[in-house]
Amino acid sequence: MRDLFGLKWWPAFEAAARDHAWLRPGAILPSETEIARVVDKTLPKETALFRHAAHWPAIRATGAKNVWSAGCATGEEAFSIALVLPGARILATDVAATAIRVAEEGVVRRQQLEKLSPAERRLFKSDGPIAAEVLSRIEFRVHNLVRDDYATGFDLIVCRNVLVYMEPDHKLRVVEQFVGALAPSGLLLLGSVDRIPIDDVGLKRDERNGVVFLRRP
Ligand SMILES: C[S@@+](CC[C@H](N)C(=O)[O-])C[C@H]1O[C@@H](n2cnc3c(N)ncnc32)[C@H](O)[C@@H]1O
Repeated sequence: MRDLFGLKWWPAFEAAARDHAWLRPGAILPSETEIARVVDKTLPKETALFRHAAHWPAIRATGAKNVWSAGCATGEEAFSIALVLPGARILATDVAATAIRVAEEGVVRRQQLEKLSPAERRLFKSDGPIAAEVLSRIEFRVHNLVRDDYATGFDLIVCRNVLVYMEPDHKLRVVEQFVGALAPSGLLLLGSVDRIPIDDVGLKRDERNGVVFLRRP
């Protein structure tokens, strides 16, 4: 489990594993595909458009052109990035194939729109599909941060509320790989819950519009 996804055990997965009898003494371990299916089903995929309101003016101010939304769940984070950074190209990835399939449809749920402020709401023409121009700038892909290769040259990586689920050693390894994926002076934005030892990975704290980014020197 740890080596496949770098994840700590979480209650929904533990319950599912118990249902599948994987935890019984002498149980035959399931195949990687079977584990991945259950992981996908039980992973916490909570997300929202413009989640963490304070981040969005700061993300807009970066003027980034090449962005990675890592652990994008059902795509709301990537849609929000595309809306505040017109002209940016966005790679949006998640280990959960079911979430990526929802994201690719580009449909924003009505309940999500209802939570927006009037100003944010004006960015959407109507309930339903995201504008084709916005979607055309986002490439959705299934990607496991712990096992798969990383693309490079990003001027902004947004990875919020993902590392919090990982074991410390995997978390550190993922951040080291983010550093390699950033262009020089590129910025990493984590969630407030995703604490990492930045000195160990050679990133510099860079506060912009009241939001703490981590900058590759
Ligand atoms: C709580 S959601 C956060 C979504 C979004 N970043 C946000 O803040 O609104 C966490 C996401 O991380 C993804 N995730 C967990 N482990 C991962 C891994 N090893 N590689 C890629 N994504 C992973 C989960 O599938 C889930 O969609």
